Amino acid sequence: MISIPPLKIQELEAKIPIIQGGMGVGISLSGLAGAVAKTGAIGVISAAEIGMIYEKGFMKDPQTADSKALKDEILKAKDIANGGIVGVNIMIAMSEFFELCKVSIDSGADIIFAGAGLPLEVPHEKLRKSKTKFGVIVSSSRAATLIFRYWDRHYKDIPDIVVVEGPKAGGHLGFKLEQIDDPNFALEKITPPVIEAVKPFEKKYAKDVPVVAAGGIYTGEDVYYFINEIGVDGVQMATRFVATHECDADTRFKEAYMKARKEDVVIIKSPVGLPGRAIRNKFLEDVEEGKKQPFKCLWQCLKGCDYKHAPYCITQALVNAQKGRFAGGFAFAGANVYRVDKIVSVQELIDELVEGYLEAAKINA
Ligand SMILES: Cc1cc2nc3c(=O)[nH]c(=O)nc-3n(C[C@H](O)[C@H](O)[C@H](O)COP(=O)(O)O)c2cc1C
Repeated sequence: MISIPPLKIQELEAKIPIIQGGMGVGISLSGLAGAVAKTGAIGVISAAEIGMIYEKGFMKDPQTADSKALKDEILKAKDIANGGIVGVNIMIAMSEFFELCKVSIDSGADIIFAGAGLPLEVPHEKLRKSKTKFGVIVSSSRAATLIFRYWDRHYKDIPDIVVVEGPKAGGHLGFKLEQIDDPNFALEKITPPVIEAVKPFEKKYAKDVPVVAAGGIYTGEDVYYFINEIGVDGVQMATRFVATHECDADTRFKEAYMKARKEDVVIIKSPVGLPGRAIRNKFLEDVEEGKKQPFKCLWQCLKGCDYKHAPYCITQALVNAQKGRFAGGFAFAGANVYRVDKIVSVQELIDELVEGYLEAAKINA
């Protein structure tokens, strides 16, 4: 019988091999992550400036507000998930990376995905005393090798899962501007070397480390292709999960996805020094024309943010967008956002993806 294979991360098993990628700021909270986990896929809360979404108490003490909001969201998502797998995405670039890892572990998150940097220094001892797994997000085999070598030397251990994020992803990208459209850096090209890079470490530690592909995966046929032709154990998808009723963003954010045309999808230079993919709007046009001015920073939430010269606060712009206030912000989105034409429930989306996978499997049987 043809079926979709589960995604195994050591003793964790997701019956649907799809991870809903973490989306900051506030786009994937407990509503989305819990609903995804409930279907048997993996739901992920983004920890990025999570306290700012709650607003209350944030201005007085941002770090405490972030920790408290993250704990609340994990507990809520676990409740909705009904035993499903709930993860947290924490950017290494965040000043409070360590603290948020600890909160996630203490609150019973099943897995932490660390992106936007190399997760070398991590609260390893605490992690391994818990059941929480640790995933790394990379955009090259070089980064994967660097992380695995470091963990091997310093912790006598390796991470539990690797997500390879290609240049069609939404949000901040781990590529140079000129690499984004270069076919040599396409997801299907950069993934096999990561699978190979991880193999010797899997052998040394007698441990299976699943590799998952992300960025531009849109249909069930795409999921089939990456699992069966490229050889990954699962996929991570984000853009499609924005167009669900359960996504935690304001309806106007989801409408921006439905309205986006191909020519509206642009690459911006984010104040944190990385390129990012977003939907063009008046706010971004004003930035381009130099109409935005440096601002007063509340606290340096992102390590690499050059806020003294940045024309706007990226966190504030993303919070505004999450709340539908596009006069003061813009939406990050994946390269395929222009294909979004309706909002469905998370279960309907998962059903469609599984059906597409099974159809492709039948054709290729
Ligand atoms: C609105 C939005 C926000 C995102 N925020 C984050 C984030 O905070 N941290 C992160 O590691 N990835 C982030 N991503 C990347 C996704 O987790 C995911 O890996 C990627 O978008 C997958 O490509 P797809 O959107 O084409 O499916 C974001 C993506 C989107 C669309």
